[in-house]
Amino acid sequence: MTDFDAMADHNRRLSKAMLQSVFELACDLSGLGPFPEHVAHARGQAPLAQRLQGIQQQIVQLRAELQSLRAPYLMQQLQKLGIDQHSKDLQLHIGSGPYVLEHWVNLDIYPAQLATNVLWGLPFTDGQCRYVFLSHLLEHLFYPTDAIGLLSEIHRVLAPGGVVRIAVPDIAQCIAAYQMGDDAFFNARVEHWGGGDGNATRLEHFLAYAGAGPDPAWLFEAHKFGYDHDTLARALRVAGFTNITPSTYMASVHPALQVDSHSQVASARYGDRHYSLFLEATKD
Ligand SMILES: C[S@@+](CC[C@H](N)C(=O)[O-])C[C@H]1O[C@@H](n2cnc3c(N)ncnc32)[C@H](O)[C@@H]1O
Repeated sequence: MTDFDAMADHNRRLSKAMLQSVFELACDLSGLGPFPEHVAHARGQAPLAQRLQGIQQQIVQLRAELQSLRAPYLMQQLQKLGIDQHSKDLQLHIGSGPYVLEHWVNLDIYPAQLATNVLWGLPFTDGQCRYVFLSHLLEHLFYPTDAIGLLSEIHRVLAPGGVVRIAVPDIAQCIAAYQMGDDAFFNARVEHWGGGDGNATRLEHFLAYAGAGPDPAWLFEAHKFGYDHDTLARALRVAGFTNITPSTYMASVHPALQVDSHSQVASARYGDRHYSLFLEATKD
């Protein structure tokens, strides 16, 4: 690890701690009501609002600085990958994690072949992609704004006839297992994914899986939403897709999209059923 990597790691941990602190600050402010302002006034101190605005301005300024680095950062990586605005028929693997697909552009947050954050939008011009694959990424984005924002970006960068294949945790199966009291479903899930302290109830597992109540400090990594077929199909329609088809593990009619087996989570099974929901959408 270089010194710069160590510094980046430290900065990431620091910003997570800040996220937690800001959440706690908001809790304090909502609990204390006008009392801190009364105290500041009585002590002849600057109003609390002024101090908060100062902190807010510093954060906004820092964010503007960081935002100005996005374009050169992405440009340098795309050049290395040999991609420019004339490139066509790209295969884009979003949220690749440790699974680098050959002949695909594998995109994730740093470190990755193309390191970026999907919330910045996709760094491609309209219609440059033939196929897009995302496995267990969408549930990590807030719904609806960020999730539908990404799906709209995917719709934009796909060429007409281009296809997106999506795998997400199947929350409908989770609800059914909860209702049937199927402990084995949840135990097998923990074996695949880990998590919990060994004593978690079915409801705790289910809600965490479906994105309920993520811890502020883990906001970046935690699930923030859950999908069943209808909800994912609706999100795709809002994003501009009209041609949406359910799929199953490795069952794409497009050979290029028979890639689920590269992902351990997409491959995870309970008996003969997969934990994931698979869907494809084609751009008209
Ligand atoms: C559960 S992992 C799935 C990894 C892999 N696709 C798989 O099927 O095993 C979620 C991945 O999405 C990435 N991710 C989450 N939010 C992201 C974002 N805003 N931008 C880019 N990647 C993100 C994470 O870094 C992580 O690699």
